[in-house]
Amino acid sequence: MSAVLQPIKSAAAATWALSVRGVAKRYASAGGSVEAIQDISFDVAGSEFVSVLGPSGCGKTSMLRIVGALQSASAGEVEIGGVPLGRSEQDTGRAVQDLAFAFQEPRLFPWFTIEDNIALPLRVRGVPRDERLARARELCALVGLSGFEQSWPRQLSGGMRQRASLARALVIKPRILLLDEPFGALDAMTRDQMNLELQRICAATGATVLLITHSIAEAVMLSDRVVVLSPRPSRVQAIHTIDLPRPRAIDMQAGAEFQRHVRAIRQDIAGYPA
Ligand SMILES: Nc1ncnc2c1ncn2[C@@H]1O[C@H](COP(=O)(O)OP(=O)(O)OP(=O)(O)O)[C@@H](O)[C@H]1O
Ligand SMILES: [Mg+2]
Repeated sequence: MSAVLQPIKSAAAATWALSVRGVAKRYASAGGSVEAIQDISFDVAGSEFVSVLGPSGCGKTSMLRIVGALQSASAGEVEIGGVPLGRSEQDTGRAVQDLAFAFQEPRLFPWFTIEDNIALPLRVRGVPRDERLARARELCALVGLSGFEQSWPRQLSGGMRQRASLARALVIKPRILLLDEPFGALDAMTRDQMNLELQRICAATGATVLLITHSIAEAVMLSDRVVVLSPRPSRVQAIHTIDLPRPRAIDMQAGAEFQRHVRAIRQDIAGYPA
């Protein structure tokens, strides 16, 4: 199966929001070294939603951390808005200001209220308290947590904590959102709800999203394109364009077009070398 690197916006859109070019990652270990990523390349356009699917241990988290400048690649390059990461400290610092992360677990601070947790990235940036709390309350409304601003993380359900974590990622109005299986721990119904909310938030904010997921249905539901990675050491196995109309509803998942995309992706995964 060939990996097709299609430009999805006009060819004149020279600068991608995010560009991953020939990225490789090798970890040194006691018994030698582990090649996690062999060669990953893909682009993400502004306001595009791209999901990455691949088997456990194929290097998805490693790739996302490299994209977010949390660790370096062994080879290749990442560009954020046309700026290559890691060449100049100043440019890298500026480029990552546009990025926000949300992880598989909510990572809220238990000693801060929900609104203080959400406002934390603004506090780090020196935004005055009144302003940052006003913004945190807006975000609570956006993710359906109005009324829980003063609650403590332990008083919220898992799904609500995950929404608070998403709100904290969104509070800086990131141009690029990096999501590492943020809904993996949720039950199916809460996950459907979160998918709808994420879709609504992306439409409202125009954020560019790179989502790692293990769910083919979630990837098809949310994405403009889906990147399928091979087992470790990973390469791009295929890139699927999901041309379903938006906004997408949960009951679309039973439709023939949706199922056609799911089957095509499943076939790529089944085609992994043994
Ligand atoms: N800091 C590290 N030091 C050494 N090896 C590492 C390190 N981080 C990851 N690895 C190895 O790199 C490979 C890829 O790990 P990574 O966490 O990126 O995979 P993943 O695709 O996110 O997996 P999962 O789907 O289970 O989350 C694994 O073999 C892992 O053991
Ligand atoms: Mg991972």
